[in-house]
Amino acid sequence: MMDNISLIGFMGSGKSSVGKELSKLLPSMELIDLDSYIEAMTGSTIPEIFDSEGEAAFRKMEKAALEDIFMTGELTGASYILSLGGGTVMTEACRRMIRRDTTCFYLKASVDTLVRNLEKWPGDRPMLKSGKSLRSRVEELMAVRGPVYEKTAHHIINADSDDYLAAALDIVTSL
Ligand code: S3P
Repeated sequence: MMDNISLIGFMGSGKSSVGKELSKLLPSMELIDLDSYIEAMTGSTIPEIFDSEGEAAFRKMEKAALEDIFMTGELTGASYILSLGGGTVMTEACRRMIRRDTTCFYLKASVDTLVRNLEKWPGDRPMLKSGKSLRSRVEELMAVRGPVYEKTAHHIINADSDDYLAAALDIVTSL
């Protein structure tokens, strides 16, 4: 059985896209996007959860979802490629599970790359609705999160290019 793989990094760093490429290279592993898992679990979208229950409740759901996934993996022997949310690692219990139960890769992108990607694919991201410019919000969150991504990951992958296959190949060669 292969160890689980997790992808962490800021919103717009390409976690979902790299996850999809990786899952083509490692077809025996099941790809799970944590946001989609939580949406399926609750029947609500991420923005709806933030609106009705707030960020703290969402963080608890991320933790519960991870517990669920790792428990299922242990029972069934399945291995997962987990594409996590940009803020999942800010919860200590999640960090612990990620370090213990996965080989964790940080998709590290510069603020310039993140702003460029988030302008191209804005999506609906509650954490970016702050009234500040996109760049200052990314800088502000990255100042806090950058060191946490670095200390949580087992490996760091350069995510400044939009060649997601190359990033997936980097990951496979570091396994
Ligand atoms: C969040 C990132 C989002 C999603 C939620 C909160 C964050 O996921 O989990 O909106 O705190 O950075 P992506 O990183 O996939 O956009």
